[in-house]
Amino acid sequence: MLVLGIETSCDETAVALYDDNGLIAHDVYSQIKTHAEYGGVVPELASRDHIRKLLPLIDNLLSTNQIASTQIEAIACTTGPGLIGALLVGASTGRALAFAWDIPFIGVHHMEGHLLAPMLETPQPSFPFVALLVSGGHTMLVDVKQIGEYEILGQSIDDAAGEAFDKAAKMLGLPYPGGPEISKLAELGTAGAFTFPRPMVRHAGVDMSFSGLKNATRLAINANSIDGTLTHQTQCDIARAFQEAVVDTLIIKCKRAMKQTGHKTLIIAGGVSANTSLRASLKLAGKKSGFDVFYPSPALCTDNAAMIALAGYYRLKAGQHDPLTILSHPRWPIDSLTPLSQPSDL
Ligand code: KG4
Ligand code: ZN
Repeated sequence: MLVLGIETSCDETAVALYDDNGLIAHDVYSQIKTHAEYGGVVPELASRDHIRKLLPLIDNLLSTNQIASTQIEAIACTTGPGLIGALLVGASTGRALAFAWDIPFIGVHHMEGHLLAPMLETPQPSFPFVALLVSGGHTMLVDVKQIGEYEILGQSIDDAAGEAFDKAAKMLGLPYPGGPEISKLAELGTAGAFTFPRPMVRHAGVDMSFSGLKNATRLAINANSIDGTLTHQTQCDIARAFQEAVVDTLIIKCKRAMKQTGHKTLIIAGGVSANTSLRASLKLAGKKSGFDVFYPSPALCTDNAAMIALAGYYRLKAGQHDPLTILSHPRWPIDSLTPLSQPSDL
């Protein structure tokens, strides 16, 4: 079955083609430049840009891969959670194409897409596993029993990890999105120059909190600025301390989740899972504690449509699809999804 995937939940317009042999191709247009001068995503601008870019991207994906529209057998499109205007652009376009081409349409949960992204790689993780989902909007640990059967073990009670990276970066005068910028500076930072708290590690369970790290960052900036500016080295040292605090906290919570569930596989996904320090530290923690760690290649950690086409493919194969009246949901709890009725179909 050849599936066209569409993703427009935030500031990336993305399209992909997936069939029985795997991922054929995917393409992402990032709106980073559009939003950079505002220091964050402006929802109205995001929607307008998706309208401009989506159809040309689909057209280009089909022609580059010499696929005719008549060959596409289904459309999988993110229908939540995300920015409602941005979601509506993808869903309206996807539904219109499904109607015109007389093929099924399936609405995909964005975080289910992230969670399944490691299945696009080889070797694939096998179920059950624990998923650490770390993006700009979400930070949660999920017990994944099978596709669609998700139990939230814990989550951030305030800022998502990616949001905390973005806010800390803004304070340090770095451009949006801040995660990759902090990561670059952290490599040049001196170990131990600053030590930030590991929030909520003394609390039992796997809930997390990242908003307090903003204060630690602000205090360090204020105490070390000369005439309102930081030296480049101090900037790097603060970036390193911030990243270490986030990574350490995530690792402590992951280890607890692995112990709690007894699972032997951990996957990480979402934009922050592109962070090289988090990837390396978790692999090491897994080796020491006896669990395997899987993550997607960096391009498939951040928003993309390959993961949406894949999630849609699995659901379509199991006989699920949605009416063309399906709504988009800015909020949509991942533990309310329908488990696949026929996992043996995969
Ligand atoms: O999954 P994603 O592309 O979009 C959402 O669904 O939110 O995640 C974007 C987030 C941003 O907050 C960005 O700063 C963060 O992921 N991010 C990173 C890295 N690359 C992206 N955070 C830390 N280190 C990175 N290398
Ligand atoms: Zn995302």
